[in-house]
Amino acid sequence: MEEEINSHLSADRIQSMLRTDRWTIHYRESVDSTNNWARQEAEGGAPDGSVYLADTQTAGKGSRGRSWGSPEGTSISMSLVLRPEIEMSRISMITLVMGLGAADGIRVVTGIDTGIKWPNDVVCRGKKLCGILTEMGPNGDYLVPGIGINVNMDRFSQDLRDKATSVFLETGRKCDRDRIAAGILESFGRYYDVFLETGDLTGLMDRYQAILANRGRKVRVMNQSNPYSGTALGIDRFGELLVKREDTGTTEKVFAGEVSVRGIYGYV
Ligand code: BTN
Repeated sequence: MEEEINSHLSADRIQSMLRTDRWTIHYRESVDSTNNWARQEAEGGAPDGSVYLADTQTAGKGSRGRSWGSPEGTSISMSLVLRPEIEMSRISMITLVMGLGAADGIRVVTGIDTGIKWPNDVVCRGKKLCGILTEMGPNGDYLVPGIGINVNMDRFSQDLRDKATSVFLETGRKCDRDRIAAGILESFGRYYDVFLETGDLTGLMDRYQAILANRGRKVRVMNQSNPYSGTALGIDRFGELLVKREDTGTTEKVFAGEVSVRGIYGYV
């Protein structure tokens, strides 16, 4: 029997699906950006574990200053407020933890064979299923990882067709967005606890490497002064990508945020 698909996300339903009370979900039908909303609330004192969820965004933000489309009824836009007690230098790793949580949450709920394009895009067959933009408060006193998931879109515009996919396009079935949101929060919460034990990715590396789509693939490191090509070997415990250079044969550590890495496959 076809599952009934609600046209709106529901904070209460998601909350009732969770086996933990660490997340408090707030919902609006439409906002400019759930990251902006979460940041405003964080500035006003919103506690760790607050989640801001919207059916659509009018000015969704992507990485590198790009915009992010969040079509009503078919996508999920969700931003978290986290207040980890860790050193500033460790904070960027949380984006990778979010990627892992999203990849596994989506896999558990939908059965899709999700992967990660380093550092944190969730992909399926070389196309992007979900993007993450993490923003930080002024003194690093809070962190807002925001996640956008393509769920029930049945097509993408010409310019995105080769790069983007959705749960519907991968499974042929419309999926309950509340269940996906709950699945991601459950998985992320578990991985986040493992991360907090050491403040690095020691306990998560095996899982991350297992689904790293770039692993063993050719990549181009778009370092402004010195771009180079090589093979992605995996990550280290700080989430840096290890790349064996084609020209020198040496292994370099690529820090997320410093450079972009282009896979010589699928979308870039
Ligand atoms: C990317 O370009 O891959 C990052 C996309 C991040 C989109 C999400 S949707 C929820 C949150 N609010 C935003 O404005 N952006 C993030």
